Amino acid sequence: METFQSLLTKKLASALAAAGFDNVGELTQATDPRFGDYQTNAALMLGKQHSENPRAVAEKILQHLNAADLCESPTVAGAGFINFTLLPGAVANKTAELFADERLGVARSTSPRKIVIDFGSPNVAKPMHVGHIRSTALGDALARIATFLGHDVIRDNHIGDWGTQFGMVIWGWKNLLDREALQRGPLAEIVRIYKETNARSTSDPAVRDACRQELVKLQSGDKENIDIWNECVALSLQDFQHVYQLLDIHYDIQCGESFYNDRLAGVVEGLLKSGIAEISERAVVVFFRDIPELADKPCIIRKSDGGFNYATSDIATVDYRITELMRDTVWYVVGAPQTLHFKQIFEIARREGHQADFRHIPFGNVLGEDRKLMKTRSGENVPLRQLLEEACARARKIIEEKNPNLADAEKIDIARTIGIGAVKYADLSQYRMTDYVFSWEKMLALQGNTAPYLQNAYVRVRSIFRKAGEAAAKIEKFVLHEAAEITLAKRLCQFAEIVPQVLNDFRPNILANYLFELANNFHAFYEGCPVLRSDEPVRSSRLALCDLTGRVLQRGLDLLGIKVPEKM
Ligand code: ARG
Repeated sequence: METFQSLLTKKLASALAAAGFDNVGELTQATDPRFGDYQTNAALMLGKQHSENPRAVAEKILQHLNAADLCESPTVAGAGFINFTLLPGAVANKTAELFADERLGVARSTSPRKIVIDFGSPNVAKPMHVGHIRSTALGDALARIATFLGHDVIRDNHIGDWGTQFGMVIWGWKNLLDREALQRGPLAEIVRIYKETNARSTSDPAVRDACRQELVKLQSGDKENIDIWNECVALSLQDFQHVYQLLDIHYDIQCGESFYNDRLAGVVEGLLKSGIAEISERAVVVFFRDIPELADKPCIIRKSDGGFNYATSDIATVDYRITELMRDTVWYVVGAPQTLHFKQIFEIARREGHQADFRHIPFGNVLGEDRKLMKTRSGENVPLRQLLEEACARARKIIEEKNPNLADAEKIDIARTIGIGAVKYADLSQYRMTDYVFSWEKMLALQGNTAPYLQNAYVRVRSIFRKAGEAAAKIEKFVLHEAAEITLAKRLCQFAEIVPQVLNDFRPNILANYLFELANNFHAFYEGCPVLRSDEPVRSSRLALCDLTGRVLQRGLDLLGIKVPEKM
């Protein structure tokens, strides 16, 4: 199925060619429906280019534009925008095409990529906290959307399972561990011994030294220390797994930092040999003297004590992803504070000759009601697992009020769908760089731009079908007369234009906002246009609009990693 946007773009291109103009400007969905459905700024761009009045340029373009099969005569507005309003008949035909299409009009990419998405990537020996929802939900949504668009996606959890903190964890394990506490809450006990050791080593140089010794032993493969490390990693992964299960997150590979451990020496040797790195004050360093913003920010890849670091393992990771996983695109969904790190890594990769497309996809913070980084009352990070369980419990209360007669198992299931959906949606509906305030009331509200509101619109569609006693609509032809039906149908036709847009700048919030508008249009339609009480052929046509709305909501939410309940 070809979208209106793409059809009109082609028509515009031929008009520009016929008028002797370059193909410049963009044809986009109109920002204000009063001016039509689509608009282009081509005349404004050309006016500037040729120092001509843009309105006169617009008129010239219109003389060559033939779009009478799709829209009313285009009009010129403001400084020289050309506006297009679709004909109801064209909308009805397109909606029928959409209805017959399993992909709801969304085309597969004509240039599919081999992508690895590095997202989530928590550090072991610490529980995942509320901040991890961002990378996890965003990365998962991008993976779902890219896959749906036909890209070949590997989801990689690059967990932080190696590093200097293990010197302390191991010393604490040997000297402070409470086995019973470990049984009760493994990660909590590991965190306790780590903190305790950290405190002791700040005040006691002997402990600090002992920790360093433990780290050296670990790094040189000491059996006892490797066993302790393995156990810590396994316990952490078990804890992460609970969270991933709740969130319905899946990874294709989990190559944590330790996976690259035995490659690091080779990486450093290679970079020295090729002259990309050099020795400076006994460390091995990459300088970026020719890049102003990095000129005074060298990247250390082997410390003067011989140890490797975060950057070294990321360079090894790049090599692996490109040469062994054969990826041409690498997306890192990692918070904004690591921007400099990734600039350095990407530049080193470029110098190594890697041609792949590397993107750092940063994001902002989750804030508490006090607009500061969200913390528990005692000032700790809020554990993600606890937060997700609370979301389900709160959603359960809503169901008890709305629909107390449902069976218990059903209530549990729906509560999870709504609770987890609400948390994910609150995150994904924001522009990723914006810090947002975590608010239970807002995210679980049945009104407003929330998951429960969208899920409720879906439930309403399903209940219409239950009432009709039919599973799905059948339709030959859409009959669209009422303004609310036409608006809804136009919105449905836009789904295929919106989904690919998300990847332009990695903004699932574009899709979220689209779904919110769709739900609004659906409610207006539902209030203004009787469905089951109408006569044929209107009844079938409206039922089919309901069906399509349900399918688009379900698919759209699924692309965001959010499920829909059949009842709520
Ligand atoms: N574990 C890291 C952290 O918590 C994030 C890893 C991101 N991925 C990467 N390839 N560096 O900060």
